[in-house]
Amino acid sequence: AGQTLYYYDEIDSTNTQIKRLAEEDAPHGTLAVADYQSKGKGRRGHAWDSPHGSAIYMSILFRPDIRPDRASMLTLVIGLSVAQAIRSNLGVQAQIKWPNDIVLNGKKLVGILTEMSAQMNYIEYLVTGIGINANLREFPEELADKATSLQKEIGHKVNRSALIAECMKKIEENYETFVKTQDLSGMMEAYQEVLVNQDQQVRVLEPGHEYTGIARGINAMGELLVEREDGTITEVYAGEVSVRGL
Ligand code: BTN
Repeated sequence: AGQTLYYYDEIDSTNTQIKRLAEEDAPHGTLAVADYQSKGKGRRGHAWDSPHGSAIYMSILFRPDIRPDRASMLTLVIGLSVAQAIRSNLGVQAQIKWPNDIVLNGKKLVGILTEMSAQMNYIEYLVTGIGINANLREFPEELADKATSLQKEIGHKVNRSALIAECMKKIEENYETFVKTQDLSGMMEAYQEVLVNQDQQVRVLEPGHEYTGIARGINAMGELLVEREDGTITEVYAGEVSVRGL
């Protein structure tokens, strides 16, 4: 709470900007919000299309006192928080597609990108960027059946600053729970409540290996629990897997 907010009409990428601010010693909790990104970044080197004036582009600086191997959990903490914020602020059933997409009515609504600057055994800082399709009315043809926006699903424009404030509130609450134990043990039930595939059949695709099972929430490390046909539980690590509903 009470940290600096930087607002930009236009920026290359709020993640890139937070990294610049971090290098200038900006404190934990610094928030950057932009109306337009000329070089928005998605995961796996993809671009994140960032048109003007209708979506939410925001990034937060974290200086957590946690081990580098726990950093990926922060993305799950943020995903949970944003899903909860959308639910409480707008009353729609946003869900998490493990590990870190948020979907609404089966289509992608929010993307999250975490970047880390770390030494072997400590984290200098983490940047978590959140892109929320808020008031977008249409998508390019190739995305139309995969992506959606709050405006499209709800039928009217949403108040972006109120949603940003609600996201920050949930993030603060969940972040505090997270740093106490340095794992997700305090959030597993809450995560299960918003998990899109909970108790449903999923197909897990790992490099050279594929199987089906039933999603049973996450463990304290943030791994997806998949119940196999023989009743055993496989813990799926986020790395290179892709999980699909059947
Ligand atoms: C994904 O590929 O799903 C992640 C997309 C993350 C987009 C957000 S928008 C705000 C922040 N700045 C960026 O350049 N990317 C993230």
